[in-house]
Amino acid sequence: MSSRGSGDLEEEEEEDEESVSSTEVKMSQIVMSQIVMPCHSNHRQELSVGQLLQWIDCTACLAGEGGGVCVPCVTASMDDIHFEHTISVGQVVNIKAKVNRAFNTSMEVGIQVSCEDLFLDRHWRVCHAYATFVTQRTHTGNKVILKPTVPHTEKEQVEYSVAAERRRVRMLHDDIIKDLLSHGAVLQANSCAAGDTVAAEKTSVESVELVLPTHANHQVNTFGGQIMAWMVNVATIAASRLSRAHPTLRTIDMFTFRGPSQVGDRLLLRAIVNNAFKNSMEVGVRAEAYQEEGPNRHINSAFMTFEVLDDQGKLCTLPRIRPEPLEGGRRFQEAIARKKIRLDRKYIISCKQGVVPLSVPWDPRNQVYLSYNNVSALRVLAARKNWRLCSEKDQVRLYTMEQKSTLSFRVESEVDVPAHRAFDLLAELSNRPGWDTHYQTCDLIHRVDDDDFLYRVVTPSVSDGAVGSPTSAHRGDGVLQDFILLASKRRPCGSGDPYVIALRSVSLPTHPPTEDFHRGEVLCAGFTILQTSSRKSLVSYYNQASPEVVPYISTDIAGLSSSFYHNFCSCSRYLTRNRLQSASEEQEEQEEQTSCDV
Ligand code: COA
Ligand code: ADP
Repeated sequence: MSSRGSGDLEEEEEEDEESVSSTEVKMSQIVMSQIVMPCHSNHRQELSVGQLLQWIDCTACLAGEGGGVCVPCVTASMDDIHFEHTISVGQVVNIKAKVNRAFNTSMEVGIQVSCEDLFLDRHWRVCHAYATFVTQRTHTGNKVILKPTVPHTEKEQVEYSVAAERRRVRMLHDDIIKDLLSHGAVLQANSCAAGDTVAAEKTSVESVELVLPTHANHQVNTFGGQIMAWMVNVATIAASRLSRAHPTLRTIDMFTFRGPSQVGDRLLLRAIVNNAFKNSMEVGVRAEAYQEEGPNRHINSAFMTFEVLDDQGKLCTLPRIRPEPLEGGRRFQEAIARKKIRLDRKYIISCKQGVVPLSVPWDPRNQVYLSYNNVSALRVLAARKNWRLCSEKDQVRLYTMEQKSTLSFRVESEVDVPAHRAFDLLAELSNRPGWDTHYQTCDLIHRVDDDDFLYRVVTPSVSDGAVGSPTSAHRGDGVLQDFILLASKRRPCGSGDPYVIALRSVSLPTHPPTEDFHRGEVLCAGFTILQTSSRKSLVSYYNQASPEVVPYISTDIAGLSSSFYHNFCSCSRYLTRNRLQSASEEQEEQEEQTSCDV
C-alpha cells in the first residue's frame, strides 16, 4: 500500500467544538493493490463483493486519516455503488481513494476501483464510490474538527465543489425515501398473483457474528467494511434461495451507519428478498448489535440488487415473490419505490455534465436529483480552468470556453454590493424582466422548497439576444419563446465558497409547449457570487450555450457588439439601486429606533 500527502486532522482539547488552525492541507491519495486469490473469491471464481467492500473501506479510511496521522475516523455512510464488472481470481484490483472535501467533523472520500489483467495488460473500471467518514470524539467526548482541504487541480476543484451538493443529497436521503414511500401513487403497483411465485419466507436468512479484535480498529470500533461484508454475505444467501443459482450483486443503495459497534458485540444480520422483478431482485438486510445484556442497537439497513447470469452471461428470468404476511406487503411495495429512486439517482446524479438530456420531466420524486444535477453542472462549469478572456470593457469581462460541441461563456465583474444581498436580489428571478430586456415575463409556477423554484420565462422574438437571457435567439419570426426553468439557489457551504443560482430547463406536464410559443431550452446557466470584501462581490454569469445561442454570442466574441456589457451594466444598476434602497431602509429603521429610545 502506498500513501501520499499529510495529515488533515487536528484534535481540539478544551472546547466542546472549536475550529483549529486552518493551514492549507493537500488532499491525500491512497492506493491499495491486491491480487485476487482463491480465498477472496466466490464459487464463480470472482472476487467476492464483501472482500472488495472491506478493501474499499480500509483504503478510504486511510485516505481520510491523511495517510497515517493517528486521528481515528469511522465510516458514516456510503453512497450508491454500481458494480460494472466482476474481477476474476488472478487479476489485480486497484483501489484509489482521495479526500474530496473536509466539512466540519466529516469528510467525503472518493474511491475508484479498477481491475487489471496482468497477462493482457488491460484495465477496466469496476465501480466508483463516495464514502463519508466522521472523526471520532476524543476521550473527553469533544468533537474533532477537520482542517479545510484546499483543491489545487481542476479535477480537485470540481470534486470539492460538487461534494457540497452530494452531501446535501445524503442528508436528505432518509426524508426523500420517507416522502416517496408515503406517496400514494408509487404504492399502487400490482401485487402478484399466488400462482407461479416463491414465498418470501423461503429466502429469509438470520445469522450472527461475534466482533473480534481483528474486525475492529485500534479504538475497538468495528470496521464499517467488515459489517458491509457480513451484510453482503446474508444478502447473497437470501438471493440464492430465491434463484437457486449463484447471484451477482449489481448495486448497493446509499446507506448509513446509524450507531457504532465494538469488539465483543454480537451482530445479528437478517435478510430477505423484498421483491423480484423480471431480471433483478431487491434484498434487504438489517444489522443489529447486542451485548449479553441490554437492548439490540440498530446499526445499519441496506438494500442490494442482485441478478443471475447464465453460462453465456445472459440475464436469467427470476421467479416472482409472494410477500410474507407481516411486513412483506409493505416491503414489496417499497422495493418498487426504491427501484425508481435508484434509477433516478443513477441517471440524473451520475450523469456527466451535459449528458442529462434537456428538459427532463420534473416531478416531486426526482426533484432532489434534478436540483443536484442543476447545481453541480454549474459548479463544474465554474471550476473549469480553461476559460479564455476574450473581451473586457470597464472591468466587465467576457470569457469563453470551447469543449467538444459546446461553447460556454461567462460574464463577470465586481459589484459594489455585499454578496448575500446580490444573491437575494439575483435569486429573485421574477425581478429579472426589470433589468434584463430579454426577459419579457418571468412567472413563478411552483415554489418547491426554500431553495428550488420553477418558473416560466417568456422572451421576445428578437434577433439580438442578451447575456443572461436563455433566448435561443435569431428567430426573427415574430413568435415569442418560452422556457420552463428550474432555479436552484445555494448559500456557501464553507468560507471561500460562492453563492450559487443555477438554471436549467425541465418539462412539466402542466405546462406543455403550445403553438403560440417556441419552447426554448437551457442546458446549464446561472450565477455565482463570491464575497470579495464586506461591501463588494464578484458576480459571474455562466451559460453553456446551445447551438442556437452560439450565433448571438459569437457577435460579441468577434467584437461586433457588446451586448454582454450593456446587460451586465443593467444588472449591476439593479443590484446597486436595491442595495442602496435596502441601506436607506436600514438607516430609516435605525433612526426610528433611536427616536423611540430618546
Ligand atoms: N451521511 C454522511 N454524513 C453524515 C450522515 C450521513 N447519513 N449523518 C451525519 N453525517 C455527518 C454530519 O453531516 C456531520 O458532519 P459535519 O460535522 O462535517 O457537519 C457529522 O456526521 C456529525 O453529525 P452529527 O449530527 O453531530 O452526528 P449524528 O448524531 O448524526 O451521528 C455519526 C453521525 C455518523 C457520527 C453516528 O451515526 C455514528 O456514530 N455512526 C456509527 C459510525 C461507525 O461507527 N461506523 C463504523 C461501523 S459501525
Ligand atoms: P424496513 O422493514 O422498513 O425495510 P428495516 O431496517 O427494519 O426496514 O429492515 C431492512 C430490511 O432488512 C428489510 O426490508 C428486510 O428486507 C430485511 N429484514 C428486516 N427484518 C428482517 C427479518 N426479521 N428477517 C429477514 N429480513 C429482515
